[in-house]
Amino acid sequence: MDRKKTVLISGGAGYIGSHTSVELIEAGYDVVIVDNFSNSEKGAVEGVVKITGREVPFELVDTCDKDALRRIFEKYEFDSVIHFAAYKAVGESMEDPLKYYSNNLVSFLNIVALMKEFKRPNILFSSSATVYGEADELPVTEETPRQPATSPYGNTKQMAEDILRDCCRSYVDIYGIALRYFNPIGAHPSAMIGELPRGIPNNLVPFVTQTAAGIRECLSVFGNDYDTPDGTCLRDYIDVVDLAKAHLAAVNRMVSDKMDGKYEIFNVGTGNPVSVLELLTTFEDVNNLKLPYKIVDRRPGDVTAVWADTAKANEVLGWKAERTLGETLKSAWEWEKRVRGL
Ligand code: NAD
Ligand code: WQD
Repeated sequence: MDRKKTVLISGGAGYIGSHTSVELIEAGYDVVIVDNFSNSEKGAVEGVVKITGREVPFELVDTCDKDALRRIFEKYEFDSVIHFAAYKAVGESMEDPLKYYSNNLVSFLNIVALMKEFKRPNILFSSSATVYGEADELPVTEETPRQPATSPYGNTKQMAEDILRDCCRSYVDIYGIALRYFNPIGAHPSAMIGELPRGIPNNLVPFVTQTAAGIRECLSVFGNDYDTPDGTCLRDYIDVVDLAKAHLAAVNRMVSDKMDGKYEIFNVGTGNPVSVLELLTTFEDVNNLKLPYKIVDRRPGDVTAVWADTAKANEVLGWKAERTLGETLKSAWEWEKRVRGL
């Protein structure tokens, strides 16, 4: 394995990690996936193998277990790490903050400490648009001030960004890129991998596809009295394959020593605000079905609107979202149908 062309992917069995593994392998990288299956299954790794036709080294490791993680650093030579491994349910993080601070921060600190110890220079960190909160200006650029976090989950992202910035500043051998994802949706066009939430989905699109599949009776639209054109919230829904390609562009930038300084941040979105009702209508149109839904009260904690200014990623990474919302929502439904055997 060429060290420069090998990437350790923590949380690589997860939704975004599995799609990113595929894009990296198809671009000629070797990946090593580390995951503890706390929110994923081995079927995702099998999906990556099926799509790419390549064997993928997989290690069942909890990244909070530093000794076990150290053995991975001893076993494999790699220059770059993409750190996805984290819990991501905002509501659960309010009920059990320690679960989130422990997992998300300890795993992150272990990764960075071992990178420093083993002189593995490049880390790509999964941050989130949640750091912007209810922003003062829209669309948000990377310079838009972050708002105080409204959940322990969001706080772990802000804290990890700050820790990474400080480590890049102080340690000569650490280079970091934080990608702030907006709302990732959809699935791989092969329908071999996709999002597989456990229990009742928190996010809109899995709830939509499960409702279409008859698993949920009716979709609740959380509020239609927002100050937006149709009264429902606006978000920037980014296709998961496009998102995976942004990781590829960022890794390419790191391994070819093209970074501007030691720590960079990029928004990863489409730049297009889409309302909840627009998303539902598009889902119905492209998949030729009707979705039962009702308007209910606002969900506490939801911001009215957030979408990305993507100029920096477009210009500096040479990356742009390509799939249309319709294509993405079609892929989400194809995936749901395959999972449910419909
Ligand atoms: P996911 O839950 O599908 O993937 C995370 C993976 O990490 C899972 O496979 C899980 O089993 C694994 N994991 C968690 N803790 C671990 C640990 N201690 N050791 C080993 N493996 C562990 O989530 P995702 O949607 O693919 O998100 C990936 C990353 O992107 C997360 O950091 C998340 O916070 C961030 N993010 C996600 C979204 C989103 O809406 N999906 C948006 C912004 C940022
Ligand atoms: C989208 C829109 C809801 C479900 C979350 C996290 C964020 C990031 C991405 C990780 C909102 C509405 C939803 C439903 C609905 N994750 N909705 N009925 O809240 O924008 O972002 O995921 O970093 O941190 O907060 O995404 O998919 O939950 O909601 O009407 O059943 O859909 O009100 O307007 P959100 P979401």
